[in-house]
Amino acid sequence: MIYSIAIDGPAAAGKSTIARNVAEKTGLIYINTGAMYRAVAYWCMKNGVPTREKEPLKSRINEIDINISYENGIQQLILNGENVTEDLNSEEVGREASKVSQFPFVRLKLVKLQQEIANKQSVVMDGRDIGTKVLPGAFFKVYMTASSSVRAKRRYDELTAKGVECDYNTILSDIEHRDYEDENRELAPLKQASDAILIDTSDMSVDEASDKIKELFEKKKEEYERNHKS
Ligand code: DC
Repeated sequence: MIYSIAIDGPAAAGKSTIARNVAEKTGLIYINTGAMYRAVAYWCMKNGVPTREKEPLKSRINEIDINISYENGIQQLILNGENVTEDLNSEEVGREASKVSQFPFVRLKLVKLQQEIANKQSVVMDGRDIGTKVLPGAFFKVYMTASSSVRAKRRYDELTAKGVECDYNTILSDIEHRDYEDENRELAPLKQASDAILIDTSDMSVDEASDKIKELFEKKKEEYERNHKS
């Protein structure tokens, strides 16, 4: 039996940190799908391919090869054989990722890869469309959110801690703009799956949110196993 957890929600709601934590606590494999969209955007930026227009990227999409591997339990994004994990975290790459994620051929390619990975093992997968499109049959679904000001403050603290110079108000308007684009795109827009539980992390620590998800997931798993004992 595959017991996957789908975690969706807007930018900077704490999904990746919490999903990684949940994976550690439950022994599941963590898959960060945002990194895959970021890798496509990063490839465009490196190769002078515009992200606003469809055709230039569509004609070169087969030049992009994305794989993931693990180093000390941390997901590494391998783009055409090169580990680009550290290059994907900037706000600029995030912004461009939001643009390329609107193209159907990009989604088709990445969703296929995500489904192939999740078909082989139980995963904690985070993104925007995991519970609605990628793994609609996921065993446990979470929709994670937080107020935009809390999300902007977290992103600001994260970047500042890494020594990246940034401005809180620019981050806030970026986040609000990305929310709008992610929620209003035609294909697989960000929305809560009807069977997902809502977790607002505005006033929760990473550990509180991870423990809550772990507890609810394990309770559901025990119930399922009890009811399916032969
Ligand atoms: O979670 P993130 O900030 O790393 O995601 C970057 C962008 O990628 C986000 O703005 C929308 C897109 N994305 C998506 O469309 N579907 C996913 N499953 C994950 C990310």
